[in-house]
Amino acid sequence: MRKLYERSWLGVEFISISRPSPQVLASPVFWEDFYQAAFQKIGSWNEIDRVDPDFRKTRTAVAEFIFGRIESHDVILSIGCGVGWIEHCLLELGQGTLHLEVTEVAPAALTLIRQELSPSRVHQGFFPECIPTDRLYSLIFMVDIDFAMDQSSLTLFLSKVKGRLTGEGRCLLISPTLDPPVSLWWTLLRAVKNMLTPLLESVGLSQRKYFFGWYRHKEEFYRVFSQAGYSELSEGFIPAGPNPAGYYWIEARNS
Ligand SMILES: C[S@@+](CC[C@H](N)C(=O)[O-])C[C@H]1O[C@@H](n2cnc3c(N)ncnc32)[C@H](O)[C@@H]1O
Repeated sequence: MRKLYERSWLGVEFISISRPSPQVLASPVFWEDFYQAAFQKIGSWNEIDRVDPDFRKTRTAVAEFIFGRIESHDVILSIGCGVGWIEHCLLELGQGTLHLEVTEVAPAALTLIRQELSPSRVHQGFFPECIPTDRLYSLIFMVDIDFAMDQSSLTLFLSKVKGRLTGEGRCLLISPTLDPPVSLWWTLLRAVKNMLTPLLESVGLSQRKYFFGWYRHKEEFYRVFSQAGYSELSEGFIPAGPNPAGYYWIEARNS
């Protein structure tokens, strides 16, 4: 694993949001403040492009990929949906046929996606506590939420996901990885950037970044899934918009 640092997202500079220290992981309070700030800039889905065009392109590609893996009659749960752009795209692609539910820790994040789902399909809080105890899903997916968990927390989290899957249900995790299918040149450039950034920050030439969690190697994703008791693992990459590294996906069955 390697530590992950970020400066801004969805047009919001993290320095403008209260946070105890750049070394501390983002808390639910941080996410609530972040989405409140984001929705001061985003009044509707059309405005996502204005604040962060890469976000829309990347997540639209991810949504199209997920849609391609949905089987008929799937009961689907998205954990940590954030602003819900991916889920908005899925609902459009499904043209009213999808059973999709979402969870999210920060209530403010649900501002737009809430308008497209019935209240019984929107769960605010931490998974799995926020889900009614009798509900099972045939597909549970999560995009870009694992980074905030270390290996043992992610293993525990995935085993809780397993407990909410139907007998043959699948868990699909989508995230950046330290092993993207890119050229050696791109890898070298990234290594140089990673070395220079702390130097530039220390002399005030680059704005401070905040600790957000960890990037993982593919093998580390594989290991947490196996340790959480999953089988039939498959994996690959989603070429996602302007990011040459794309997104890594790993899917496993509950059996
Ligand atoms: C980087 S955002 C990703 C949002 C969305 N999935 C996307 O790709 O646009 C991470 C989100 O995960 C949520 N989150 C963090 N820990 C969580 C947890 N344990 N359960 C559910 N959501 C969580 C945060 O509130 C935040 O909105």
